[in-house]
Order: sequence, then C-alpha cells, then structure tokens
Amino acid sequence: MGDKREISRRTFLNYALMGTGGFLAAGMITPMIRFAVDPLLKGHAGGDKVAVGSPDEFNAEPKRVEFKVHTKDGWYEAESTMSAWVTKNEKGEILALSPICKHLGCTVDWNTSPEHPNQYFCPCHMGRYSINGEHILGTPPLVSLDEYETEVKDGKLYLGKIKPNPRPGVTG
Ligand code: FES
Repeated sequence: MGDKREISRRTFLNYALMGTGGFLAAGMITPMIRFAVDPLLKGHAGGDKVAVGSPDEFNAEPKRVEFKVHTKDGWYEAESTMSAWVTKNEKGEILALSPICKHLGCTVDWNTSPEHPNQYFCPCHMGRYSINGEHILGTPPLVSLDEYETEVKDGKLYLGKIKPNPRPGVTG
C-alpha cells in the first residue's frame, strides 16, 4: 500500500513537471512560430495603383510608360520596373496594355514592322496585335495582350493590376 502511494506521488510529480515544462515551452515557442509565419498570414500587400502621368499626355498614338511597383509576398520583397503601352481614344477611354507577348513572353513594340504598320509587333516569332491588343489571327499568339486596370483620379492616370484582355483575335 505504502509502495503504491510512493509510485503515485512520483507519477504525480512527473505529470506536474511535464505540464509545467510544456507550458513554459509553449510560452517560448508560440511567439517564435508566430514571428516565422506572420508574413504568410498577412498575405500579399500589393495591389496599389501607381500614377504614370496626366491623362492629357496620352492620345490615339500608343505611348510607352515605365513605372516601379513594390511587391511583397511572404518574406520576399522586391521593386520591379513595369511598363505599359497607353492609348486614349476619341471618347477619352484609356487603354493600358502589357507589353508581354502572350505567345512566349517576349516584349512587343509598337509599329516596328514595316510590313505591318500600326500594330504591336513581337520580334521573337513575328506575333502581331492590333492597337487594342487584339491578337492577329494567323500569328503565333492565341490570346490578346493583357491590360492594366486604369483609374483617373485628381488629374492623374493610375495603373493597377494586370488582367486578361477579353477582346478576341482579329484579322489583319
Ligand atoms: S514570343 Fe511573341 S510571338 Fe512568340
């Protein structure tokens, strides 16, 4: 009986020590884990629009603009230089196209193919797009150039996220 009580006391002390140790360890480890995964829990901090000039600077002739974007993904932070081809039509509607070719990702330029004037031209595989970014049927790209979200505010043109261009291909 006395022996049984001795074992019970020892077991109780073991449990008490384990519980106390576990509590202290959890108190130390939890802030470390939280610090380690915090950037992931916060997610993407991007999505802000960037001013690229006054809407008055743009017209029917595509103009290339460059701007810097700060991106943060988890622990990774970077400053990237982006560019867009911007036009403003006679109704005042602004279109900002991504210059990244939808075939294999080369950079398109405006009006650089003498055989196909007034089109975006990709020198890598002769891809072509209309002024609205529509892919020219029969050339390698199968979708139109992506476009940026645009907003005019306080006399400035802001570009936001890149989104797919819904315009279908055209002949040209
Ligand atoms: S990458 Fe532009 S046509 Fe191939």
